[in-house]
Amino acid sequence: MRTRPLKVALLGCGVVGSEVARIMTTHAADLTARIGAPVELAGIAVRRPNRVREGVPAELVTTDATALVKRGDIDVVVEVIGGIEPARSLISTAFEHGASVVSANKALVAQDGAALHAAALERGVDLYYEAAVAGAIPLVRPLRESLAGDKVNRVLGIVNGTTNFILDRMDTSGAGYSEALDEATALGYAEADPTADVEGFDAAAKAAILAGIAFHTRVTLDDVHREGITEVTASDIASAKRMGCTVKLLAICERAEDGRSVTARVHPAMIPLSHPLASVREAYNAVFVEAEAAGRLMFYGPGAGGLPTASAVLGDLVAACRNRLGQTTGPGESAYTRLPVSPMGDVITRYHISLDVADKPGVLAQVATVFSEHGVSIDTVRQQGKDGEASLVVVTHQASDAALTATVEALRRLDTVRDVASIMRVEGE
Ligand code: HSE
Repeated sequence: MRTRPLKVALLGCGVVGSEVARIMTTHAADLTARIGAPVELAGIAVRRPNRVREGVPAELVTTDATALVKRGDIDVVVEVIGGIEPARSLISTAFEHGASVVSANKALVAQDGAALHAAALERGVDLYYEAAVAGAIPLVRPLRESLAGDKVNRVLGIVNGTTNFILDRMDTSGAGYSEALDEATALGYAEADPTADVEGFDAAAKAAILAGIAFHTRVTLDDVHREGITEVTASDIASAKRMGCTVKLLAICERAEDGRSVTARVHPAMIPLSHPLASVREAYNAVFVEAEAAGRLMFYGPGAGGLPTASAVLGDLVAACRNRLGQTTGPGESAYTRLPVSPMGDVITRYHISLDVADKPGVLAQVATVFSEHGVSIDTVRQQGKDGEASLVVVTHQASDAALTATVEALRRLDTVRDVASIMRVEGE
């Protein structure tokens, strides 16, 4: 066994970084045995050096992240700062100085993954980011390595714990969105500014990364259709229940049936209670991968939190260190299919539409005509009338998102339609 240690620079020492530092110290002997050489924490770059960090060696702490990655003796840089800058510049500098990089940064990988991979390739070093998608759940490596000989057609899952917690609370307690968000904030699931989670940015970044790896093509955050959960109401959840469904924020990446394009989207959707994703409660994540030979695989576990995310970081760190010792690198970017990403309008799915209409003769026929004129076939209609007004719930068969959008626009123009109260896609059937 080599006795000269592999040196690791840790950028960021928040909830994830502090767990990475702690595990590296407490599990040093096991890590050494698994890697085949000792692995040593050479420096920890932080913004606030005076903050007390239990179990983190104070003598390693520095505020000069750039100097740390430029040292020249660092084998692996672990970036757990998050956000685009300074993370991007620090990772580039790390590559320029010959270090491999392990990152948990979904926003950066979803935006600049191709450029980062190219820089790593040019320098003959590794770029790993298992922790960027769904915390502890192994997804990047299974897609990239275990399924490298198969053909993945679909990835469908819950990849954001905060929104799953909120929707789960709305489902179990009947609470409205704001009340459930307040509870998520009080319990530490939602951040003070919850925008990235509740507006679907976090899930969209993960969807972009998963789609790119699954379909061997380039997918960036901008390619992902994104809708958050802020418009989901208690009445949507109640409607879902009446249909034997629940509402989840889903990330869905699909290869088109003709195989010539892919789509990636994040939006709330109704799924039947019989679907395994319906039983994913609280802040857990779960992802289905459908591959031609393997069939349907399900990955489930904690998708956030310091310790679970540190587990994914450590797994990548061991891989990067092993490669370093073997003077090799792991798999880089695979984007050879060059499949284009189709717009949301091309997506085919089912829809649940709630309308407030006038309750008088011919209205149902008028509404049905609009659906038929746009080629959208109705599966079920439920009507409840009161005082000359009625609420209509229409569930469609499969239709394109473009056809459904045109249908809804036409419905809004009808005098007898007072309001299109909600539109939700129905998935997982
Ligand atoms: N905020 C994310 C979530 C975890 O709630 O799942 C980090 O991506």
